[in-house]
Amino acid sequence: MIPLFASSLKPYHDRLSDAIDRVARSGRYILGPEVEAFEEEFASYLGVRHCVGVANGTDAITIALLALGVGPDDEVVMPSFTFYATAEAALVLGARPVFCDIDLDTFCVTPDTVRAALSPRTKAIVPVDLFGNVAPIPALRELGVPVVEDAAQAAGAALGGTPAGALADVATFSFFPSKNLPCLGDGGAIATDDDELAERARILRFHGSKDKVTFTDVGYNSRLDEMQAAVLRVLLPELDGWTERRRAVAAAYERLGLGQHAMLPKATEGAEHAYHLYMVRSERELPMGRGYYRTPVHRQPAVRSGAELPATEEAARTNFALPMGTDLSEEQVRQVVEECASGST
Ligand SMILES: Cc1ncc(COP(=O)(O)O)c(C=O)c1O
Repeated sequence: MIPLFASSLKPYHDRLSDAIDRVARSGRYILGPEVEAFEEEFASYLGVRHCVGVANGTDAITIALLALGVGPDDEVVMPSFTFYATAEAALVLGARPVFCDIDLDTFCVTPDTVRAALSPRTKAIVPVDLFGNVAPIPALRELGVPVVEDAAQAAGAALGGTPAGALADVATFSFFPSKNLPCLGDGGAIATDDDELAERARILRFHGSKDKVTFTDVGYNSRLDEMQAAVLRVLLPELDGWTERRRAVAAAYERLGLGQHAMLPKATEGAEHAYHLYMVRSERELPMGRGYYRTPVHRQPAVRSGAELPATEEAARTNFALPMGTDLSEEQVRQVVEECASGST
């Protein structure tokens, strides 16, 4: 059986154990030197001034929106074709997600779909770099509303040579174990060039306090912990090599003829896809395939927006994730293609 997520941390187990052991013996477990070092290393990898480690990718979006001043009744434009957390992050602030459609080929929002959803109440746009592709962020920034890039699925991707996570006013990451840059539990980060926004995010991740004595805001207890930061410091240097392997798997799917049996994913113009998931579209059920977001966010019971989003509906109905990961062999790719061929006319 070929796993859908074909990546293993086995080769890194000894180094991860050493890192965890170092933290266990250090006596510093929360907001210590490992978090500080990881924040510097990840900021430097992305080429941004600041990285703020937080507890998970959902909190990262909430805190980024709150740092931008988003609050009750503000509108936040975002895709419905995404993981529920993108919308939830705005909903917990009392803000109103306004759902826009996507481009079927890239699975991402476009300047036109976002523009159609803007109103005078729009306080932020949250494009999602879905499945490891990159949304057309530079064009979205021209719409004149702050952009929060949900890069949870896109560590290692780039657009026009700039890393995903360095394209918007502020970007957010998840280090959930299945992500392209994983930790061994929950973890997340906020990345920005904006000094003030970074400072606000630091305050908001620690109960609304700068000095742990005076509490100026109602914030969150949302910190990346020392162990996860130490783990991320071991794995971050591997990210570019892993991304190359994912791209090689995607190239093999194309070379071995998968395009005859399903519609292959397209990178946004100028983007270097990181293939968090290898997502094709097909009218018929694909063996080994798994559908994502079959009920898009705008139709979830907690949301129930009346938005009409034809491309979102079609993507939700016809997408299939096929096995992808750093450890997938050419032989396994061939097997997947053969399985997809069986039953195709
Ligand atoms: C697009 C997207 N946004 C946000 C999140 C939330 O991240 P986390 O699970 O770390 O809270 C995820 C991941 O699960 C995601 O895929």
